[in-house]
Amino acid sequence: MIDFTGKRGVILGVANQRSIAAAVALQLHALGAELALTYGPDPKGRFEQNVREMGATVNATQILPMDVTSDEQVAAAFQALDKAWGGLDFVVHSVAFADRADLERPFTQTAREGWHMALDISAYSMVPVARGAVPLMLKHGGGSMVTMTFIGAVLAVPNYNVMGPAKAALEASVRYLARELGPQNIRCNALSAGAIRTLSSSGIKKFGEMLKVAGEHAALERNVTQDEVARATAFLLSDAASGITGQTLYVDGGFNIMAN
Ligand SMILES: NC(=O)c1ccc[n+]([C@@H]2O[C@H](COP(=O)([O-])OP(=O)(O)OC[C@H]3O[C@@H](n4cnc5c(N)ncnc54)[C@H](O)[C@@H]3O)[C@@H](O)[C@H]2O)c1
Repeated sequence: MIDFTGKRGVILGVANQRSIAAAVALQLHALGAELALTYGPDPKGRFEQNVREMGATVNATQILPMDVTSDEQVAAAFQALDKAWGGLDFVVHSVAFADRADLERPFTQTAREGWHMALDISAYSMVPVARGAVPLMLKHGGGSMVTMTFIGAVLAVPNYNVMGPAKAALEASVRYLARELGPQNIRCNALSAGAIRTLSSSGIKKFGEMLKVAGEHAALERNVTQDEVARATAFLLSDAASGITGQTLYVDGGFNIMAN
């Protein structure tokens, strides 16, 4: 049985109610976890407000700013969690970003700046997040991390462009984190979600078409939901997955196993 009673964890990546991270927060709260939520930068301030609303729904005891491009902000958030909780059991990293222009133009036209930004926010960020989380997890005798990825890491998906290499780097980073942190009883896995309509995915050109193709060609002949991703995330974070680390788990209705 998956039970998070007495477990504390932080979820990065709630932008609004459609966010995968929001579904994960609802799921982990329902399973008994005590949650911290972080919000990323947003010139209009909507994310903080949305995260505070989600925080009220899931009784989050910590709401913290965390722009993952700032080592200082990442470190400060984990220091705040250390002060409040004195330890940590899990981290959910559900953060990605690419310049819309780089998602729209041909891959050969990807800007150097755009590449750096997409790889920085979507892949490198897992490193300072792990660096911040590990000392807290050690106080609890170990822990578990999950990050969200996409099949564009291993297949050339139309219009996914610069996010493909970013997710490939993220999945490779998960393996290196798993290798380094395994001896300390800290697990790190990636969850490869099928296409889901969210704020981020709306930035991908012809996303509606991607969603349609994914639904038609998945073994289950349908798209997956945020809730299905959230339940698998809870599994990976839980003791039920205590022997699983360094993996990429596909939660895509079996899209990835189909030849066409
Ligand atoms: N929606 C899909 O089809 C799909 C499929 C597979 C994987 N994913 C992945 O799931 C994760 C969550 O995406 P989503 O679809 O829920 O979209 P979303 O827009 O709801 O979430 C993306 C989050 O990234 C955060 N973010 C962006 N830049 C940041 C920064 N500098 N610092 C901190 N946070 C920052 C945003 O605030 C937002 O909360 C992403 O990694 C995405 O690539 C999504």
